[in-house]
Order: sequence, then C-alpha cells, then structure tokens
Amino acid sequence: MSKLNSGILGTGHSFPEGILTNADLERIVDTSDEWITTRTGIKQRRKAAPDEYTSQFAVRASRQAIARAGIDPADIDLILCATVTPDQILPSTGCLIQAELGAHKAAAMDIVAACSGFLYGLSLADAMIRGGQSEYALVIGAEILTRYVDYTDRSTCVLFGDGAGAAVVGAVESGRGILAAKIRSDGRYQDQLYAPGGGTKGGFSAETIARGDHFFKMKGNELFKIAVRSMADISREVLLEAGLTTEDVKLFIPHQANQRITDAVANKLNVDTSMVYSNIAMHGNTSSASIPIGLDECVTAGRVQKGDVILMASFGGGVTWGGVVVRW
Ligand code: COA
Repeated sequence: MSKLNSGILGTGHSFPEGILTNADLERIVDTSDEWITTRTGIKQRRKAAPDEYTSQFAVRASRQAIARAGIDPADIDLILCATVTPDQILPSTGCLIQAELGAHKAAAMDIVAACSGFLYGLSLADAMIRGGQSEYALVIGAEILTRYVDYTDRSTCVLFGDGAGAAVVGAVESGRGILAAKIRSDGRYQDQLYAPGGGTKGGFSAETIARGDHFFKMKGNELFKIAVRSMADISREVLLEAGLTTEDVKLFIPHQANQRITDAVANKLNVDTSMVYSNIAMHGNTSSASIPIGLDECVTAGRVQKGDVILMASFGGGVTWGGVVVRW
C-alpha cells in the first residue's frame, strides 16, 4: 500500500456571541476575579444563548475550514465530530452537521473523548487517509459546555466555555503533515470528571434533574496532576516517534484547561514559553474545541509558517489523552 501522509488543509472556528466574565460569575457564586485569574488564568468565556445548539457552531467552523482547504463539501468522505455536548442523543451531531453542509458522500459520527476528542479525531482521520479509506476528512471539536455546568458549584462553573473548531485533513506531500499521532485512555479514572445522569445507568427523571445529576462533577486537584503528567509524557512519545525533540517545536498548542496546567507541562517539556499558545484568558476550557480553536487562531494570526513543527497535546475526562506532531 502506498504510504501517503495526511495533513491539515484548512481550519476554522466559531463562538457564540454571549460572554460570561469573571465579574458576572462573582454575582452568581461565591468567587472572585482574583481567585479565578490566579488559579486558572481565565478572565472570560463564551456562553451560548438558550436557543443555540452545538451543531450550529460546528457548521460555521466547518464552512471556514472547507473554504480555506479549497474543496467542496461534496468532496468530504469522513466527518468526525468530537463532542460531549451533542445536539441530541440520536442521531449523531456528525450526521446533523453532514446534512447542513451537504457533505452527502461522507460517513459521519461522533467521538466521545472529552477534551481529547479533537486529537482522537485527527489521529483516526490520519489513519483512514494513510490507509486509503478517506480522501478528505472533516474533524471537528464542538461544545456547549455551559449547558452542563452547575452554576451553584464554584469549583467547576468558572472553568468552562462554549465554541467550535474544525480542520479539513487530506493527503499532503511526504515529509509534511501529521508526523506522529497517539491517543490513550484509562477508564479506571472515570470518576475524576463525569456526569452521572441522562444515560441508561443513571437514568433521567424529574428527581435526577432536580439533583443535578446531568451536571459535570470533577475532582480538580487529582485531575490536575494526571493532566500534567499525561500531556508531558505523550508529547515526548510523539516527538520521539517523529524523530524530533522539543527544540524542533515552533508552536505548542496544549489543551486549554488551566494556565497553571499549561505552564507545568511546558516546564516539564522544557519548551520556551514564547512557543506555547494560550487563549484560556478569553475562552476558558472549551473541551474538544480548544485545540482546533487555538490552531485556527494561530493560522489566521500568521503564527504558523510552512515547514513549522507544531506539537498538540490534550487531556480530558475518561480519562483520555493524546498527542499529535505536525509539520505545517
Ligand atoms: N472561587 C473561589 N474559591 C474557590 C473556587 C472559586 N471558583 N473554586 C474552589 N475554591 C476554593 C475551594 O473551595 C478551596 O477552599 P478551601 O481551601 O477553603 O477548601 C480552595 O479554593 C482551593 O481549592 P482547590 O480545589 O485546591 O483549588 P485548585 O488550586 O486545585 O484549583 C481547579 C481548582 C479546578 C482550578 C484546578 O484543580 C484545576 O484546574 N484542575 C484541573 C481541571 C481540569 O483540567 N479539568 C478538566 C480536564 S480537561
């Protein structure tokens, strides 16, 4: 079989217009701008209006990515939508996006890997393209996390925001594109970040809703340590597989969970802070959307040049983690 390389051909992102600032949160729960800023780096996050839904932002981000890739929606043969906040349980958000885009040739599905979902999608798209099963894949991370946040729980409600990012992945010349991709999970840590209600185990009734079982529950301290270790380890693994070191990296885009996590990972990897992208102050943690949003912001700001090595690493509930190295 011929060994094609896959690469990112176009990116896009989209946000709801609504903004929730730290000052707004001070009026909702017992918190302060000072605590949120020093403990997380977050100043504001986007918040969808009650009548907005996840696929709307996914479709806007996807249209940008498709246009920048210079292809037609009808060319796409694979849609992978990473989300833990789908429009509805059935059908997949991927199928809803497919219909809206008119990408009728595609196989469409959702990936449930929390904050690692986009890198899971990139890794799968890369394998499908290199294996000859896909020509153009659309990989999306899209979330309306604020719908599943308990605004009486100050330890989680300050962290999360809404948004979507997308990338078109297709064949590129050898030596470029995705040089290495690895994805991992460990279900033994399932109780670190979870939402017990709404499924066949926790059920859904007036009582489960009144109890707030559908809201995210999180053990922030423990997750913090696993996140730092996992993201640093997988970053080293993918760089090693690509035959590179951190000195080759021009841009590091980690999942945006907490500025202190980003700083700790960069420190462990010995990456110069000027190479590390951070948008957490403006957007908070947008789960699967954070890396594709960051990537698109870097691309449109001219921060990525042809030939640059980009490292991406993520960590999320499950727990899940992943790393991808790209030569642009
Ligand atoms: N405002 C004010 N005080 C708050 C607060 C808030 N929003 N949230 C928590 N606190 C308080 C706690 O109640 C605690 O008070 P106490 O000492 O009187 O009990 C104190 O601040 C310290 O809490 P702690 O949980 O130890 O803070 P922390 O420094 O670990 O920061 C997180 C909490 C959640 C910001 C941090 O642990 C984190 O980012 N974890 C990883 C989260 C993550 O990555 N999740 C998603 C995976 S992608």
